[in-house]
Amino acid sequence: MSQSLPGNFRKLTLPQRQSAIAGAFAFSPEETAGINADSGMLDLADIMVESAIGVMPVPLGVATGFLIDGVEYVVPLAVEEPSVIAASSYAAGIVRRAGGFRTWATEPVMSAQVVLEGRYDVDSVMKHEPEVRATLEPILAAMERRGGGYRGMEVEAAPSAGCTCVIIHVDVRNAMGANLLNTAAEAVSRVLSGRLGTQRLMAILTNAAEQRRAGAECSIPVERLGRAGFTGEEAARRIALGAQFARENPLRAVTHNKGIMNGVSSLALATGNDTRGIEAAVHAWASRDGVYRGLTEFSVVDGNLVGRWEAPLPFGVVGGAVAVHPAARASLRILGNPDAVTLSRIAAAVGLAQNLAAVYALVTEGIQSGHMRLHCERLAFLAGARGTQIREVAVLLAAGTRHNLDEARTVLNQMQQSTDGRTR
Ligand code: MEV
Repeated sequence: MSQSLPGNFRKLTLPQRQSAIAGAFAFSPEETAGINADSGMLDLADIMVESAIGVMPVPLGVATGFLIDGVEYVVPLAVEEPSVIAASSYAAGIVRRAGGFRTWATEPVMSAQVVLEGRYDVDSVMKHEPEVRATLEPILAAMERRGGGYRGMEVEAAPSAGCTCVIIHVDVRNAMGANLLNTAAEAVSRVLSGRLGTQRLMAILTNAAEQRRAGAECSIPVERLGRAGFTGEEAARRIALGAQFARENPLRAVTHNKGIMNGVSSLALATGNDTRGIEAAVHAWASRDGVYRGLTEFSVVDGNLVGRWEAPLPFGVVGGAVAVHPAARASLRILGNPDAVTLSRIAAAVGLAQNLAAVYALVTEGIQSGHMRLHCERLAFLAGARGTQIREVAVLLAAGTRHNLDEARTVLNQMQQSTDGRTR
């Protein structure tokens, strides 16, 4: 898909990039309007949340060059942090030249907890399973028709002091599933509390989404990784060591995983998904053995740096904000309107790309030099530069030694004076 964008896409002006994207992916007029900050957004905001007062626009950009399971993708990312999209595209390019990402995913099964007051043994609850199943039939009928539906019930074997927890599992296909699971859980709680003669404490899906996982892997010949005075072998060894340190050291793991989520959460926001739900699931998974660990693993195997990770990635492509937000629909169109499982596999690849870019920079020249150009572009904007001036000011600013707003204003003034001088 990325071949349909001009090779110099990154260097075009924003309006030129908009028209290239809209043309390449055949945007509808609504989608074209949806990625513009126009007043139509206010009506949307008003129906999306209570007491809306406006919108908080976040840049929507695209990372290019992703090759995932043999398919080329342009990946929409909504994010305020300057380096995220650049880092994604950079790592995607390295992996693409080495054959691309390989991904996998489980079926999209979500679970809900029905918490009942009182301690009940497993058998006394499980004997009501046929009635639970019958209760769920009408609620899950539409989902069954789409190939999803009820996937079982469990009772926690060791009930807590005052409660018993029943867990129901539902394949939610293309939905994120929160509404459906919550409706199902409340219905089940009515049946079970009646049969057991107790009260429901609560009934709600669990965001852990442990059964709904996706993963990605990449393999890069080490000789391609030479950078900043490090040989490829040395850079690869240091990336593997950096990932190992993050698995063993919780303080580092938090930042390491934050880097992964730079990609995953930005894709979630761009596609109208529940960023908080996905983040909760991934961070819980990172501490599933009782210690918070870095989620990616890198190792050098037969002359290749092999990276991989897997985590719950409960993305949906129907319902919720996806259904009403035209920018989310535009983002899904850019991705070729994937199903939810494919979107979660794309998310796994984007998370691995982000992590590779971050750790590769950290263990070679460090993170700051790459961030400087983008930081300088922000300063140029704040100093008053607009359009092509932003890059011109940023280049001059980055070449100097003072990277602050005063210096950006000085550089901009000097540039404007020399332009005035030439046009007079
Ligand atoms: C910054 O947003 C993300 C990094 O801190 C991630 C990491 O340290 O691995 C660069």
